Amino acid sequence: MEEIKLFCPATIANVSCGFDVLGLCLDSTGDEMTIRKSAEKGIRITEIIGADLPLETEKNVAGVAALSLLEALQPYCGFDISFTKKIKAGSGIGSSAASAAGAVFGINHLLGNPLSTKELVFHAMQGEKLASGSAHADNVAPALLGGFTLVRSYEPLDIIAIKAPAELYATVIHPQIELKTKDARSVLRENISLKKATIQCGNIAGLISGLYTEDYYLIGRSLHDELVEPVRSILIPKFAELKAAAIAAGALGGGISGSGPSVFALSKGRENAEKAAQAMKVILEEINVPFEVHVSAINPTGIKIL
Ligand code: HSE
Repeated sequence: MEEIKLFCPATIANVSCGFDVLGLCLDSTGDEMTIRKSAEKGIRITEIIGADLPLETEKNVAGVAALSLLEALQPYCGFDISFTKKIKAGSGIGSSAASAAGAVFGINHLLGNPLSTKELVFHAMQGEKLASGSAHADNVAPALLGGFTLVRSYEPLDIIAIKAPAELYATVIHPQIELKTKDARSVLRENISLKKATIQCGNIAGLISGLYTEDYYLIGRSLHDELVEPVRSILIPKFAELKAAAIAAGALGGGISGSGPSVFALSKGRENAEKAAQAMKVILEEINVPFEVHVSAINPTGIKIL
């Protein structure tokens, strides 16, 4: 195989209670990437459509992730990467992760899959490190593996893949302002109280339990964040109203998607997810903030070969 074309999905990181450790994969939104083998060693980013991003390999998240993989595998050839960005940078739905995950997935595939998909997570994380200064895995892991993923540990890296309940749908509204993950991380507090940590542990355990037992209402009441949402929500126009409107319309719960400014809700069934989308739209229309809305099933497999 000389060339591969990929769909690289958007993702929701944190999922409220799982800062830096939980993520889920979306089905309806993502980038397209083409990777071609080349006799010339190394990585070249040949074209980026739809975004103003650097073509220099060392400055590009896909390039840096790919270089990390090449360093590990030392293949006999190189690769040319081109992609069409549909996920906006700074949107909070894993734009950089889609590029980093796509690059390592595609190269590994063209080389006959020497690494497992879980082993690729480490290399994709190097792209995240370039983008945000932190090698978090809560976008790249679900982009690669699909469903929900839990980073049980970073050192050593231990990723748990969790199947999503069949009727779970996500709604994401993206107010069209750019919020860089680096900036959204800089406002976070370094220390938390034992009381808050206890509440957070209860919710993340509740959410994981709800996913395994397909208990939609347990999932809903576990979508609570003591640590990050109270600080970051100030950066998002009408955050509290958006979340409340989605829940009033029938969503199970919601919160900030990744580092924002997108806001997400989870619902049982597509109909409730569409109702949540409609209710959230009204809030942003009232204040004349342009937005994009996505309603999506949870993507069970992650990156797709086209
Ligand atoms: N866990 C990361 C953060 C996700 O919240 O900063 C960034 O998309």
